[in-house]
Amino acid sequence: MSDKIKKIAILTGGGDCCGINGAIRSIVRTAIVKYHYEVVGFIGGYSGLYSDEYIPMTLKTVSGIFHQGGTILKNSNRDNLFSYRVKDENGCYVKTDVSDVAIVNLKKHEIDAIIIIGGDGTLTSARDFARKGVNVIGVPKTIDNDVPGTDITFGYRTALDHIVNALDALHTTAYSHNRVMILEVMGRNAGWLTLEGGIAGSADAILIPEIPYDIHKIAKKIIDRYNSGSQFSILCVSEGSRPVDGDVTVKKIVDGSPDTVRLGGAGEQVARALEMIVSPITGQELRSTTLGYIQRGGVTNCYDRILSTRYGSYAVDLIDKGLFGNMVAIRDNKMTYIPIEEVVGTGLIGETSLGGKHLVDPEGDLVTAAKGIGIVFGD
Ligand code: F6P
Repeated sequence: MSDKIKKIAILTGGGDCCGINGAIRSIVRTAIVKYHYEVVGFIGGYSGLYSDEYIPMTLKTVSGIFHQGGTILKNSNRDNLFSYRVKDENGCYVKTDVSDVAIVNLKKHEIDAIIIIGGDGTLTSARDFARKGVNVIGVPKTIDNDVPGTDITFGYRTALDHIVNALDALHTTAYSHNRVMILEVMGRNAGWLTLEGGIAGSADAILIPEIPYDIHKIAKKIIDRYNSGSQFSILCVSEGSRPVDGDVTVKKIVDGSPDTVRLGGAGEQVARALEMIVSPITGQELRSTTLGYIQRGGVTNCYDRILSTRYGSYAVDLIDKGLFGNMVAIRDNKMTYIPIEEVVGTGLIGETSLGGKHLVDPEGDLVTAAKGIGIVFGD
């Protein structure tokens, strides 16, 4: 056991998801029970590190939080301390690098290492702090499951449960009304939630960012089903999906966020386009439902409780071994680690033509199996 480490910190950044509290609980318990470290938690992501807002973390602090979605430490996805919005002497907002303030705070509290739980934006800052000599360990989290270097992130499977429940509910009303029901799901530019949620929820068509769709091919599927006696259809549509001859649907731009684009409206767009082709032939009505932030909350499922426990515990083990600058990962169901530089730097990002994220392989066995059972993707 390392005798150099006495005190560690935790910070949660980016969008929340189920399993973050499980990871916090696992980190705190491992740090205290196994390694006898002192633990503090910064509040509100990087902004808490800047404003020096933190709480001591004890076994009591993490009692009763395991099943809860969200994060008891609160999140922010707009606080990049390397380009932070502050007021200048004229009272105008300017962006400036305030990362040294965070480093001073860490030193002031004699924090030997910090575990940063987040997605790509949060981990990019984690890398930048590691470059400045801070002892950082990254823990990936996101419902999108798009972090490279790891097979799966906690939050993803609980979000999938919400999607499948929603699709099951849409099925009964679609059947009753002979309708085409569309469910728009999150995931940004990764189609994992839509693909696995759609397969598990018996969707007839799945539209994902990795496979741009031809609306006529989706329409043909619906019409064929209608003509063969299935007068309803269910579509699972990624917020990041796009037609072969079009672009993604942008809902809003969030200034100050690492990725400023917020997607939304793809389901409605598909509904309107299909209405023009399908309704005159079958008479069916189309309705689109956006599942939205429900996917990020609720009660953490069993899988994500276990996964977050493994991630948290392993993160503290890496601290004890002095393996800083790494992100905890799981590959082939074994805990491992990978340099954060490779996750958010040019390494893995350069590896795929799709932008370096962990994305669905359009030729992979999941898509192949889905197509094999008759699900259409519009390609
Ligand atoms: O990355 C998680 C996620 O929920 C995405 O699926 C979604 O596109 C985005 O965050 C929404 O971000 P915000 O919370 O800023 O609206």
